[in-house]
Amino acid sequence: MSSKISFQDGKMLVPDTVTIPFIEGDGVGPECWAASKAVFDAAVERASRGTKKVAWKEVLAAEKAFKQTGEWLPEETVEAIKHYHVAIKGPLTTPVGEGIRSVNVALRHTLSLHACIRPVKWIAGVTSPVRRPELVDMVVFRENMEDIYAGIEWAAGTQENAEISACISRLTGKTLPEESGFGIKYISRAGSERIMREAMEFAIRHKRRSVTIVHKGNIMKYTEGSFKKWCYELAKREYGELVCLESEANQPDMAGRIVVKDRIADNMFQQVLINPAMYDVLVTPNLNGDYLSDALAAQVGGLGLAPGGNFGHEVAIFEATHGTAPDIAGKDLVNPGSMLLSGAMLFDHIGWSEAAELIRQALASTVRNGIVTGDLAKEVEGAQVVGTTDFAAALIEFIKSEACA
Ligand code: NAI
Repeated sequence: MSSKISFQDGKMLVPDTVTIPFIEGDGVGPECWAASKAVFDAAVERASRGTKKVAWKEVLAAEKAFKQTGEWLPEETVEAIKHYHVAIKGPLTTPVGEGIRSVNVALRHTLSLHACIRPVKWIAGVTSPVRRPELVDMVVFRENMEDIYAGIEWAAGTQENAEISACISRLTGKTLPEESGFGIKYISRAGSERIMREAMEFAIRHKRRSVTIVHKGNIMKYTEGSFKKWCYELAKREYGELVCLESEANQPDMAGRIVVKDRIADNMFQQVLINPAMYDVLVTPNLNGDYLSDALAAQVGGLGLAPGGNFGHEVAIFEATHGTAPDIAGKDLVNPGSMLLSGAMLFDHIGWSEAAELIRQALASTVRNGIVTGDLAKEVEGAQVVGTTDFAAALIEFIKSEACA
């Protein structure tokens, strides 16, 4: 029997032994992956009472791929992820040098991973820079392909740059300063509607209270302003009776509806600090979403614990959100929490939610008991600092124990 995920009428079918490609990543990636894989296998075994299993399949990207194949993102890797529909990856070195793209951005574009989803929730025991971190429970839906982040840029001094400059002068009557770099910011109706629909579907499925559209439309009217307009229009058109506006939320006949509201991005950065309990699902264009997700991660203990997933049509890649941490690579110091929680998202995605919950419980319980990696030591009172391997061993012990029965 095939061990491959398949789709029938849009429904995902997952065999009991499922092949999932992994990219272990560069720098701390291999240690992080080894620790996480051991926890994943223990969680699946326990949750399924031995009836389910992941056959992990290594695929290459970034530095490891370049060393072995001469390519930063081999075609084989892209094909394997398409074929198996789901993958997990560690952090990847961004190649340095003109004309070489970030492998993460290349993966996103090659596989059309249009949504980046980052849940942000505090784990009890982790010290946070805010007074009430337990009030933070948000999920950021970031459009992943458009905006100024799409990589359409022209360096100062190039022929293309001169042509763009001339075109701008012709269209606007303005002459821009010499030696200016240019990048194109574009936001489409289709892209905005797609991310809003994902956010709405998630909010409905998980009974969330509100969806907040984050934008800077007061200044960038035809990009971020249109994003806001198109998101509201979609909510009204496709989810009419299920949603209401913030101004209607107190009316008795609106009880139980999902409140669709919007905030200007700069205000939103204040809101998540001052009024976190008022926010739930957030939907953002690419650049603001990038900033906001990392700021939110910091509010609940940093990137070492922040999971993420990138979603396209029938394909998803889950990823540790931190970088390759070259300063601690090879020293058994890395906190695998981000990859562990990304794995939990992956298991939720394929319908193995019991395994996902076990991973989350094991992580929460281990941290609550004060067993942490060095990066969290200063955060957790009375912490017992352990290396990556022993941290994973503590999680596995919890998973195998009666405590989680
Ligand atoms: P970084 O996240 O690798 O490191 C920043 C600091 O945080 C370092 O002091 C590091 O030791 C620490 N740190 C990060 N993750 C940690 C963890 N899980 N446990 C304990 N400590 C941790 O960011 P940096 O130095 O800016 O980037 C290094 C490389 O990683 C660059 O090539 C960058 O492009 C790449 N990168 C890749 C990402 C990805 O593949 N998703 C994301 C961010 C950066």
